[in-house]
Amino acid sequence: MSDNPETPFDPFVKQRRWYTEILTNYLPIELLQRNGTIRAISIGGAEGLEGQALIELAKIINPGLNIYFEALDLDEGGIRKSRRMNPNVPAENFKVADATDIQSFGLEPWDLIIIRNPNLKTGVITWKEGGGHENWNTIFQNSIDKLSPGGYLFITNYDEDEQQLTLDMLKSEKNFPELQILHLNSNKTSSLSKKGTGFMLERTASVFRKL
Ligand SMILES: C[S@@+](CC[C@H](N)C(=O)[O-])C[C@H]1O[C@@H](n2cnc3c(N)ncnc32)[C@H](O)[C@@H]1O
Repeated sequence: MSDNPETPFDPFVKQRRWYTEILTNYLPIELLQRNGTIRAISIGGAEGLEGQALIELAKIINPGLNIYFEALDLDEGGIRKSRRMNPNVPAENFKVADATDIQSFGLEPWDLIIIRNPNLKTGVITWKEGGGHENWNTIFQNSIDKLSPGGYLFITNYDEDEQQLTLDMLKSEKNFPELQILHLNSNKTSSLSKKGTGFMLERTASVFRKL
């Protein structure tokens, strides 16, 4: 990878294209048609390709929309990469932070919270270390708390089992009744069925709206 922040070599170009397709298919258009600034945050984003994908998509759909984007991850290496991969976002918006601590989400609510591939089946907290479901339970609860009314929780998973676990965990949250389920698309029922792309990618998309 190039060390020059002006011209980063982008090893995630295919993944970003894939994620742009998912956003195009499942992110409610109503959000992208708003004018002014919307606040979007990615939790456990690692290299954070969703930031650039979202910003580029919004630019095409609605020039009157500005995306304020932040990303949190426990993993310092992932945050370093995401700063390089998102040249349009100020570096300080990518934070090494623990999302089980609600203060990591800041004071203001979010219009869009993105969680890509939380990896619930293995309970992995970082790519290298083991972890627990407790972690994601708390993150889901914090995410529902920190959504603005009319805001969206956008979660993708590697497969249907992970998606089902996500849904089960969300349903167990005390604040789940505040969510309306908009999409529960899986690789069996949607366009998310491409194979052979050579990288780990999500095959399900679940979208919720806060009432
Ligand atoms: C399986 S990886 C997925 C990474 C990326 N979203 C993707 O789809 O390629 C899960 C990520 O969640 C992060 N994570 C796990 N627990 C976290 C927590 N409590 N706070 C912030 N990030 C967390 C991990 O560091 C890791 O980068």
